[in-house]
Amino acid sequence: MPTVFITGATKNTGFAIAERFAGEGFDVAISSRNRENAEAAAAKIRKKYKVTAKGYAMDLLSVESIQGVFAHIKDDFGRLDTFVANSADLGIGIDILTATEDQYDDLMNTNVKGNYFACREAAMIMKEQGGGSIVIIGSVHCKSCVGGRSLYSISKGALSTLVRSMAVELGMYNIRANCLLAGAIRTDRWDGISEEEEARRRANWPLGLESDGEDIANGAFYLGSSLSKTVTGTDLVIDSGILASLLPYKRGDSK
Ligand SMILES: NC(=O)c1ccc[n+]([C@@H]2O[C@H](COP(=O)([O-])OP(=O)(O)OC[C@H]3O[C@@H](n4cnc5c(N)ncnc54)[C@H](OP(=O)(O)O)[C@@H]3O)[C@@H](O)[C@H]2O)c1
Repeated sequence: MPTVFITGATKNTGFAIAERFAGEGFDVAISSRNRENAEAAAAKIRKKYKVTAKGYAMDLLSVESIQGVFAHIKDDFGRLDTFVANSADLGIGIDILTATEDQYDDLMNTNVKGNYFACREAAMIMKEQGGGSIVIIGSVHCKSCVGGRSLYSISKGALSTLVRSMAVELGMYNIRANCLLAGAIRTDRWDGISEEEEARRRANWPLGLESDGEDIANGAFYLGSSLSKTVTGTDLVIDSGILASLLPYKRGDSK
């Protein structure tokens, strides 16, 4: 069976991606910083999709932890066809003038260094088995910015560059690497918001509707499977049109 490993996949976008691959018959590895949560999410996948699924504790801040988990995945599944780098420190409320050195190190070491070493471990397994696909969940923040997300935006820019580097260096091993640039995704952070707040958010983008986990999972499955066998080094944008809008968007007021 083909195998996919998705980081930070106990809930929200990551879990939706795990369900999408499991629904296509992939065996699934899930990581979380919390082992119990990872194992519980894997158990849900096993029960619903009747595939092999395992949960692992992994901390992107520790290269040793990353290397240990990839070694376990190689032992447990025998192969790794698709790696989805989904985990991220969202860095909400961190701006350039007030960011501390600790905030900088935490966010960059999680999002850039951690994902770099995770992709490298994935690539080493894929090289040995003759190929594979790496998908990084990026963000429109790497191309357009809002206040209070500086470090996050910089980190997502680095990841978008990382996929182009991987495409060039790893293509000879039949390893593809692509970035999925997501706009707004509905997650548990939307739980309990008022209808007014939901409408205010939706008025920010041309289609007037945020992506849900399944929308992102469809893109991740496209990039992570043979459906995209000649696609590498690209950014796939799934953003309801936000990047296409030059000025602050007011839906219904754009004549
Ligand atoms: N939600 C959006 O509107 C949006 C928009 C564009 C892009 N994205 C991207 O989509 C991906 C999934 O995000 P999501 O919105 O679904 O959020 P999420 O579930 O909150 O984040 C994904 C996972 O990342 C892990 N994580 C969070 N903070 C971390 C930290 N400081 N260090 C290490 N791991 C951490 C968590 O897993 P554990 O706690 O289990 O370890 C978390 O479940 C992320 O790459 C995000 O940047 C989201």
